[in-house]
Amino acid sequence: MKTMMIAPSILSADFARLGEEIEMINRSEADWIHADVMDGVFVPNLSFGFPVLRSIAKLSHKPLDIHLMIVNPEKFIPELKALGTYIMNVHYEACAHLHRTVQQIRESGMQPAVTINPATPVALLKDIIQEIYLVLIMSVNPGFGGQKFIEHSIEKVHELRELIEKTNSKALIEVDGGINKEIGARLVTAGAGVLVAGSSIFKSENPEKAIHDLKNV
Ligand code: DX5
Ligand code: ZN
Repeated sequence: MKTMMIAPSILSADFARLGEEIEMINRSEADWIHADVMDGVFVPNLSFGFPVLRSIAKLSHKPLDIHLMIVNPEKFIPELKALGTYIMNVHYEACAHLHRTVQQIRESGMQPAVTINPATPVALLKDIIQEIYLVLIMSVNPGFGGQKFIEHSIEKVHELRELIEKTNSKALIEVDGGINKEIGARLVTAGAGVLVAGSSIFKSENPEKAIHDLKNV
């Protein structure tokens, strides 16, 4: 048994009861709150923007892990910093000048993280891995909660673990999409350090226990 870091994905919460859902996360053993921002351009869906992010930030006692599924995410560095973001997660596929964006995020005082889609090879991170706090491996195609875990993601976690060791990087490995307890256990064995989970937490009868169970896979 190994203790994982857990970031519940608020996208699967009941937004009519957002305050209560965040209080549940505050009480739980979750480490961060994962917030999914979608623009309808980079991904085929819309989620929420700054008014909702500000409410989440105001209520949350946990650091914010913001996953930006948007084009030109660098445009919003000042706003994200102002609301108290801890990790600013940008997609490899959405950044024309990823190195510059990562530097700008770090200079602003947030932790820079890079997300890769299921079809983006881990090897493409070779020249940025030393500069980042965290890599997020998408284990579904981004845009929707409740999708099926893509098995090949396990292999990608292994590859990323090797790359991190080879380059003496300190980057954390986070995985997002279709994760439940059983899959979580396999991801830990493969070398993941942070699990994002939406449906398996918020659609369960006891979300606080689901967080506890994921944390102790
Ligand atoms: C998908 C999002 C995920 C999603 C996870 O685009 O990035 O964070 O909400 O939800 P589940 O755990 O239901 O796949
Ligand atoms: Zn996400």
